[in-house]
Amino acid sequence: MFDLVIRNGHVATASDVFDADIGIRNGRIVQIGERLEPGIEEIDATGHFVLPGGIDSHVHLAQNSGDGIVMADDFETGTRSALYGGNTCVMPFCLQAKGQSLREALTAYHALADGNCFTDVSFHMIISDPSSSVLGQELPALVADGYSSFKVFMTYEGLRLNDAEIISTMDVARRTGARVMVHCENEDAIRYLIGLHEASGNVRPLAHATTRPVAVEREATHRALSLAEIVDIPVVIVHVSNGAAIDEIRAARRRGRMVIAETCPQYLMLTADDLDGMDWEGAKFVCSPPPRDRKEQEACWTGLQTGAFELFSSDHCPFRYDDPAGKLNAKGRQSFRHVPNGIPGVETRLPILFSEGVMKGRIDLAQFVALTSTNHAKAYGLTHKGRIAIGMDADIAIWDPQIRRIIRHADLHDGADYSPYEGTEIRGWPVSVVLGGRIMLKDGLLRGRKGDGQYRKRSTARS
Ligand code: URP
Ligand code: ZN
Ligand code: ZN
Repeated sequence: MFDLVIRNGHVATASDVFDADIGIRNGRIVQIGERLEPGIEEIDATGHFVLPGGIDSHVHLAQNSGDGIVMADDFETGTRSALYGGNTCVMPFCLQAKGQSLREALTAYHALADGNCFTDVSFHMIISDPSSSVLGQELPALVADGYSSFKVFMTYEGLRLNDAEIISTMDVARRTGARVMVHCENEDAIRYLIGLHEASGNVRPLAHATTRPVAVEREATHRALSLAEIVDIPVVIVHVSNGAAIDEIRAARRRGRMVIAETCPQYLMLTADDLDGMDWEGAKFVCSPPPRDRKEQEACWTGLQTGAFELFSSDHCPFRYDDPAGKLNAKGRQSFRHVPNGIPGVETRLPILFSEGVMKGRIDLAQFVALTSTNHAKAYGLTHKGRIAIGMDADIAIWDPQIRRIIRHADLHDGADYSPYEGTEIRGWPVSVVLGGRIMLKDGLLRGRKGDGQYRKRSTARS
């Protein structure tokens, strides 16, 4: 007897699509075949797609944003929203404040996350203060302890590292096998452009896009790839927004470098024109890098179709709009510079790619699975996740391709007060989600409890 059988589904992996039943015992997939024996519980997936649960390897939850600005999602609301969007694992960032030890930062994030999650979680570190003790002792010890990835920033005052610091931080990855993620935008160039914009009174949200043009991202992408080449490590280039940055990534690969590249829904669905809304509505679309134009959207689609991107993540970084601690607040401070960067999207990431990608014939189901789950597990060492195969965690999302839905924030479950994709028509939506063999969502109704999601340690390429 199985604990759970998912019967008659159209199963997809990153390489195959086939009809089968899936037998689950003790949280793992133990059999895949036809006419399996009964389970204590059963899900009839006739007419539905049975996919590995989504892994969103780029989300921000409960992250301190300074300036009195509070992120709209904590671990409870953020992971519940992720679950409704077909995810079984999310990877938020643990931000090191300047002068803070990494252990101290982690203790605080674990206190926020542990016992509060509806999906599994695993943290990337953000290194803002690469002191000799952080790079010499703390970070290598954490990598060995399963915190096997970290992000460095080339932008944002207080967060960005200079080239020497990036090199020394990358060197930890060379020594330990950890993954380095880089946010590629040139802060000095952005500051120069902000100065020009403010001097001429150009302070509305659209200026966020024009002070962060493609060249700012292209230059920093080239530099990050070059620094990784010099240190001789693989590197992850996150939230890539345009064709010129993709060209840099392709050129590095032609030189024999291992580069993992990520793009996000905002670079397929939004443009800089969205930032030009009346009465600061454009602030709802402020994220970095900014959305570009139709041509760059097409470049990102081509990148997804042709293998330039391994990862499709949300970069869910939710702030409320009309709230004393939200985005509209910047209007009173008379500059786009004060709009907190980031937009919500953890619940809509998969439906958007399914609808715009699979249902419109731009990518196939196997590519969808690779881009949204399997590749995330591989890139970041989630050893038992991201695949429907014997021995893997039974983390599964069941999709109804017949559902037609209009995205309305009122129907979503995050803590923001808007969706950047409001009004978008979607075909296909996840209806049931299984996490470690436990039915968390059944026919759109929540059955799981907070705390069912667990913290997951990860391996490195070497462990
Ligand atoms: O605007 C964005 N993307 N905010 C989130 C922080 C980051 O850089 O990923
Ligand atoms: Zn970033
Ligand atoms: Zn981010």
